[in-house]
Amino acid sequence: MERIPSDVVNLVEDLRRQIRRHDHLYYVLDSPEISDADYDSLYRRLEELEAAYPDLVTPDSPTRRVGGKPLEKFNQAPHAEPMLSLSNVFDEHEVLEFDRRVKKVLGTAPDLAYVVEPKLDGLAVELVYENGRLSIGSTRGDGYVGEDVTANVRTIRAIPLRLEAKGFFASTPRIDVRGEVYMNRADFDQLNRSRDEEGLPSFANPRNAAAGSIRQLSPKVTASRPLNFRAYGVGRVLGPMPATQMDILEGLQHLGLPSNFGNASLCGDIRTVLQRYRELRELRESLPYEIDGAVVKVNSLAHQSALGLKTRSPRWAVAFKFAAVQALTRIVRIEVGVGRTGTLTPVAVMEPVDVGGVRVSRATLHNQDEIDRKDIREGDTVIIQRAGDVIPEVVGVVKENRDPSSRPYRIPDRCPVCDSAAVRLEGQAATRCVNSSCPARLKETIRHFASRNAMDIEGLGTKLVEQLVDRNLIANVADLYSLDLEAVASLERMARKSAGNLLDALERSKQVPADRFLFGLGIPLVGEHAARLLMEEYGDLETLAAKTAEDMEGIHGIGPEAAQSVAAFFNEPRNMEIVRRLLDAGVNPMPLKPPQGAGSSPLSGKTVVFTGTLSLPRAEAKRIVQDRGGKVSESVSRKTDFVVAGDAAGSKLDKARESGVTILSEDEFREMTAH
Ligand code: IVH
Repeated sequence: MERIPSDVVNLVEDLRRQIRRHDHLYYVLDSPEISDADYDSLYRRLEELEAAYPDLVTPDSPTRRVGGKPLEKFNQAPHAEPMLSLSNVFDEHEVLEFDRRVKKVLGTAPDLAYVVEPKLDGLAVELVYENGRLSIGSTRGDGYVGEDVTANVRTIRAIPLRLEAKGFFASTPRIDVRGEVYMNRADFDQLNRSRDEEGLPSFANPRNAAAGSIRQLSPKVTASRPLNFRAYGVGRVLGPMPATQMDILEGLQHLGLPSNFGNASLCGDIRTVLQRYRELRELRESLPYEIDGAVVKVNSLAHQSALGLKTRSPRWAVAFKFAAVQALTRIVRIEVGVGRTGTLTPVAVMEPVDVGGVRVSRATLHNQDEIDRKDIREGDTVIIQRAGDVIPEVVGVVKENRDPSSRPYRIPDRCPVCDSAAVRLEGQAATRCVNSSCPARLKETIRHFASRNAMDIEGLGTKLVEQLVDRNLIANVADLYSLDLEAVASLERMARKSAGNLLDALERSKQVPADRFLFGLGIPLVGEHAARLLMEEYGDLETLAAKTAEDMEGIHGIGPEAAQSVAAFFNEPRNMEIVRRLLDAGVNPMPLKPPQGAGSSPLSGKTVVFTGTLSLPRAEAKRIVQDRGGKVSESVSRKTDFVVAGDAAGSKLDKARESGVTILSEDEFREMTAH
């Protein structure tokens, strides 16, 4: 093994320590100290060093979260202790019943206490840590045998790949941690918006989204989903056990796992339990994630064993569920809106009704599949539900009240705005208007472009966009910058002064950070976050536009679908034409920072071909070259500057020799790229 300089070893360890610390601050303590951009730069430095010194790579390095190939199917993963579920109770009466049953078994135990924890609405998983290293992650399955989703849970940054040796469980050789994988509401909304744009079916709720994301055969897909984790208990533990549930939660927290420790309340009697439940119900809407109730657990483990288990659930705990707020109303009609990518979205327009204090008169029906599944028709009496989420949904139809002459609803096959054909492609949930210049699409596109987090064109609201498009003053976003005062002042409710203000706002919008410009282009699946990652990586738009989907997939946080979408956008000449016109009009997307190391590296501007077997993965080798401003090509040609030859290199090496291209060994390549 080649000798690795000790300062490199130390630096790699230090970077890993820093990254773990920031993961911990962010996910466990909920108090990040650095920006996402600074975090990403630590991460990138570690990736580069590991690429240059593959011998230093360890399986629990933060960079090894995504790896491996998609699975054919999930393997079975037996649980050392069964994963039980909880019996549900729905009112205070039933909770008092539970308390009575507990006291019947324990008698007058003076130290009886309960722990009340929020019941996160996600998916239960078990994480096996052996000697502090995450070895298996599995779903609950039937409680005895789950599915092995190790590769997927490894991609969740809230889940440490190795534990801290702190607190009660510090020297436990094996601990099976139980907890919930879930999705924050804001992340869920963002994910669904992107999926809607892609024509993919949206997830009904964060729980489904979390469950669907964990059960993916390709860990890359899981990695691109914003999952989170919180531990609430343990299964098998080799080693001593603490005395109480509270101690378990604290012990888990000390291991560096986000646990319910900070959210759990210790209650000396059942009255206090009820009080805490009511508090949680009040808090519910303001939490960043969905909870569907409170879990009430007997605190003492000795008490828990005295109480024992039923077949599928313990006698020492219950789930006290929140009643979902529901109401009945009638669908007056179903309207169809057309979005930025031409997707026709059916919306139920209902007789206004109060659902848990909020007046509701519209609810999205998502797509034809959703409508068919629930058999929703115009005129139907429906049950509306507002879950923890503020977005109301139609849960079902009261069929008894249905008008016998009603017909199943079909999304129209013509666009309600431009009357072009609306088609649903094989395998897609969305029905789309085929007319790429449909005024509805155009209006949405422009509205998005002008929005606060994109170009931030003050004063360019929905009404104004409508008029500009309807009067044919603009046919795309680039036309905005050729508007003149006369034209704008001729619009309804537009005094000369406000017309002037709009032109000023347009002028001001030209100096825009490149990521906001990219976001404003409205590329499907490219939200603000993805736009920032892309621009941080590539610096300027031109560089980005030249990248392939494969290149972009190498960026931490960019999923394969988003990468495809960006590449497809820049491959479309009509899109490039609009971008060019925007730039010609003086729009100046300001680079976030120059690409790392470009200009100073011997690889800057060079084309490199890899051949033969290398010890470092191709994707990483490629990234090293790209990060230094170079390009990787598949075949040797006149444009090739270097051929890096690994073991058993074949025809490409011969060709390189023939054409006199500089040939590097892998060691030489590493030397050239290390710093
Ligand atoms: S304790 C034997 N605690 O609710 C105890 N469960 O039906 C089993 N859940 O499958 C679970 N938050 O997915 C527990 N603080 C919490 C929880 C929680 C959510 C979920 C878990 C479990 C289901 C119970």
